[in-house]
Amino acid sequence: MGVPEAAAARAAWLRSEIERHNHAYYVLDFPLVPDAEFDALFRELQSLEAANPELLTADSPTQRVGGKPLPAFAPVRHVVPMLSIRTETDTGPDGAIAFDARVRRLLTLADDAPPVAYAAELKFDGLAISLRYVDGLLVQAATRGDGETGEDVTQNIRTIRQIPLRLNGEAPPVLEVRGEVFMSRPDFERYNARQRGLGKPTLVNPRNGAAGSVRQLDPKLAAERPLSFYAYGLGETQGWQRPASHSETLDALAAFRLPVCAHHVVAFGPSELVAFHQQILAQRDRLPFDIDGVVYKVNAVAEQERLGFVSREPRWAVAHKYPAEEALTVVEAIDVQVGRTGAITPVARLKPVFVGGVTVTNATLHNEDEARRKDVRIGDTVVVRRAGDVIPEVVSVVFDRRPSRDLFGGEPLHPPFALPDFCPECGSTVVRGEDEAIARCSGGLVCPAQRKQALIHFAGRRAMDIEGLGEKLVDQLVAAGLVHTPADLYRLSVETLAGLERMGEKSAANLISAIDASRQTSLNRFIFALGIRNVGEATARDLARHFGDLDGLMAADVYALQSVPDVGPVVAASIVEFFAEAHNREVIAGLRAAGVQWPVGQPVVAAVQPLVGKTLVLTGTLPTLKRDDAKARIEAAGGKVAGSVSRKTDYLVAGDEAGSKLDKAYELGVAVIDEAELLKLLVKGVEE
Ligand code: IVH
Repeated sequence: MGVPEAAAARAAWLRSEIERHNHAYYVLDFPLVPDAEFDALFRELQSLEAANPELLTADSPTQRVGGKPLPAFAPVRHVVPMLSIRTETDTGPDGAIAFDARVRRLLTLADDAPPVAYAAELKFDGLAISLRYVDGLLVQAATRGDGETGEDVTQNIRTIRQIPLRLNGEAPPVLEVRGEVFMSRPDFERYNARQRGLGKPTLVNPRNGAAGSVRQLDPKLAAERPLSFYAYGLGETQGWQRPASHSETLDALAAFRLPVCAHHVVAFGPSELVAFHQQILAQRDRLPFDIDGVVYKVNAVAEQERLGFVSREPRWAVAHKYPAEEALTVVEAIDVQVGRTGAITPVARLKPVFVGGVTVTNATLHNEDEARRKDVRIGDTVVVRRAGDVIPEVVSVVFDRRPSRDLFGGEPLHPPFALPDFCPECGSTVVRGEDEAIARCSGGLVCPAQRKQALIHFAGRRAMDIEGLGEKLVDQLVAAGLVHTPADLYRLSVETLAGLERMGEKSAANLISAIDASRQTSLNRFIFALGIRNVGEATARDLARHFGDLDGLMAADVYALQSVPDVGPVVAASIVEFFAEAHNREVIAGLRAAGVQWPVGQPVVAAVQPLVGKTLVLTGTLPTLKRDDAKARIEAAGGKVAGSVSRKTDYLVAGDEAGSKLDKAYELGVAVIDEAELLKLLVKGVEE
């Protein structure tokens, strides 16, 4: 007995509906329906297929994970070889300029010929994959291998939900798509956190994670590893009119619902390539995945064909690198540092290593638990990461290279790291609260490290802005016993200063006048200068605006404090603790007595709801806010969050990989803003 027609039709509909939701969820990052609704569709299809096995098709979304472990991967011969790209190692503008000059010379373009059009995109740091679609159906996925022959990793690739099992729309008889499989940073962190929780091995970095997962023989294990994919090119095609340019090819791939990274542009001439290189570098740390550079491709296929290949590399493409963000080096010692608030931070002293564009000699180990979890020891070879302006950190230990007491890899030479019991700066006991990750020196301002750091912070450009009062001078002032608290600064005289080493009459006079000038300040600078834990510049500004003067702030309890935008329970508690400390009140009184003053403003009476009456829609991945947080904040500010863009929408908040909502907003002329602008709106409201 055949399958009822209605059941077959229902199964087909469910399959396409589930794939449409997968695309919305995994590629556009914009779920169309609640998870429960999706699950219901999925379960319905599963039971339909169970009841009617004839309905089961290879492209069914229920078949993404399955199959038995393989003894080995079968070889796959690439009809069109998978090439590599020449790398421009000069990480400055010259990399792009040299490539353009080469292209122009090879195309024999006259000096006054117009600039060459390039497709500029990201160089993903993962594993190259070729996907073969026959009549729109994913039939094979293969690794690059040596470029001629790769490995059949279809089972594992099918588990990547971003990759369609069936192409959308009118698909050609044969279409091979080339792209990169990678693991996003958040997925990598989440995976490792879970593994750690289970006491299982963690991944060294996202790249290894991706490569290892794709080449995992057990597809069930591969399915547990969260992978992503971006398409960036073509292999063999049959019966398809290929687009005339690379950028149009990417558009065509996206129309088949293959994931294509949003960060690509058509750039004209070397200056636009350089601009792209710099622009992406500035965003690099905010991308949710690792890149090791950008790729430039001559856009017109006709020109690509004229340029051809040398050995295994096309002459029409080049990778323009960025400085590596990770490097290997050796730990020479582990010290602890005492911060301004007494926080004790273990720091690895490293054999100097060039990473992220600078030479790094120290890397933070964050706190005791982290240092122990990573089990970093003296003599270890470690992976150091420095991304952008972020403080360099030790990512992991290469345990194979740990020095041991004997030749047979027995006892490690050095014991595990332990925090000292006493502060290395002042000898006070080191304490660690029960639920706290951070250990602190209990010495307070008795501890010279805390005193010095507090003074340096107080004098800083963004705080009281006392020019000339740097680290060295603070060291001297503290060592000579001249300054214990910030208030003491205002009692210094030219004579006492001139008595210090390397301090002439002239610089002493300059410093005194800088200290004098700082008496006239603003409330927000003053609050920031106090160095209250968890109160940065932005919070200080919010507090100043809210309370208008210091007395209200000093008297506020944790509840009053939490009516200030962005102040939560943790920040509120830090503020209350700070002002509860008699010593801190004395310092403040001393500063006021010394003539430190600021213009007083009006306190804010009621909590303002700057977004009342406004409707916002969210799309794509925001750089810092999770979708739920963004929604909660908008609602707390009186705004409404809608699921789709319409004429009634006031703002579309768009993040990375914004989908069709963005097109719709442009079409309707709805204002599109990014996360930074949203945060401003939440504080200031809409200026009308
Ligand atoms: S195009 C004909 N585009 O870099 C050019 N490759 O050495 C073929 N890669 O193995 C590659 N991002 O794994 C291309 N946007 C991108 C890329 C990219 C990363 C990798 C790819 C390839 C290697 C090139």
